[in-house]
Order: sequence, then structure tokens, then C-alpha cells
Amino acid sequence: MDKHGLYKTMLLQAEGLMEGVQQPVSIYANLSALIKSTLPYVSWVGFYLFNGTALYLGPFQGQVACVDITLDRGVCGKAARDKQTVIVPDVHQFPGHIACDAGSNSEIVVPLLKNGKLLAVLDLDSYQFGSFDEIDQHYLEIMCQRLATFLK
Ligand code: SME
Repeated sequence: MDKHGLYKTMLLQAEGLMEGVQQPVSIYANLSALIKSTLPYVSWVGFYLFNGTALYLGPFQGQVACVDITLDRGVCGKAARDKQTVIVPDVHQFPGHIACDAGSNSEIVVPLLKNGKLLAVLDLDSYQFGSFDEIDQHYLEIMCQRLATFLK
């Protein structure tokens, strides 16, 4: 299956996982597992949650990761600050990239916004260079938009 197919299936499954779930943390946990098990090029996926000042580690799938990220640091900080998706084809070329896993080579971070307010960022890493493109961006942004509608 190509990326479009993987993501379309994943979005359908995501709807089922979010429907009727009361606690955001449970949705974050299951979406992380869904993404990790669906996309073969993803080495780590998870949510960094925004506390109004900085990001802290939320539910994820993959190796242990850094806990706190201030908005002036890393790919996650940039996506949170700008409220825009950031695609990094080669993390070694990104000034200030935070290397939680030395094997990571590319990354995408999508902000989770509700009514323009930052709630979290969704972070995906890959051991391959250039894993993420506008197709990933398109579907992950849809997923975050859908997710926002389920959050109070
Ligand atoms: N690389 C991220 C930090 C989080 S880890 O990838 C899990 C960054 O630069 O913000």
C-alpha cells in the first residue's frame, strides 16, 4: 500500500479510537500506537503536551525520550512557536535539533491546535533521511484537526 492508502486506512481507524473516549491521554496513547504500527518508516512517534509555557513528554511509542522542551529549542519548539508543521529531511542540518535517539535522521512535527490555541505537538521520527513529505503533512494535519474536535 502507498502512503495515501496507509493514511486513509489509519484515519478511519483513528475515528474509531477517538469516538466516545473521555480522557485525552487515552486518545494520545492509542493514536501513537496506531501511527507506529501503521507507518513502517517511523522509529518514534508521540505527543509533547503544552502546559502554557513549555512542552512535556506525553504518550509515545518508541525509545525513551527527553521530557521537557522549551519553545526556543528543537523541531518541536519551532512547530509549537510558529503553530506550523515542520518537516526536517535531515535532522543533522537543523540548528538546535534535540537528538533523543542518535539513530534518528528525519522528522516531522505537527501542532495540535484547538480554536487557534496550542494544546500539543505530534512528533514523528525516522531512521531514514527524507522520510516525511507533504503527504505526511496533509494527513497528519487532518488527524490533528479531527483529534482537536474530540478534545474539550
Ligand atoms: N527531535 C525533537 C525532540 C523530541 S524527540 O525527537 C522524541 C526536537 O528536536 O524537538
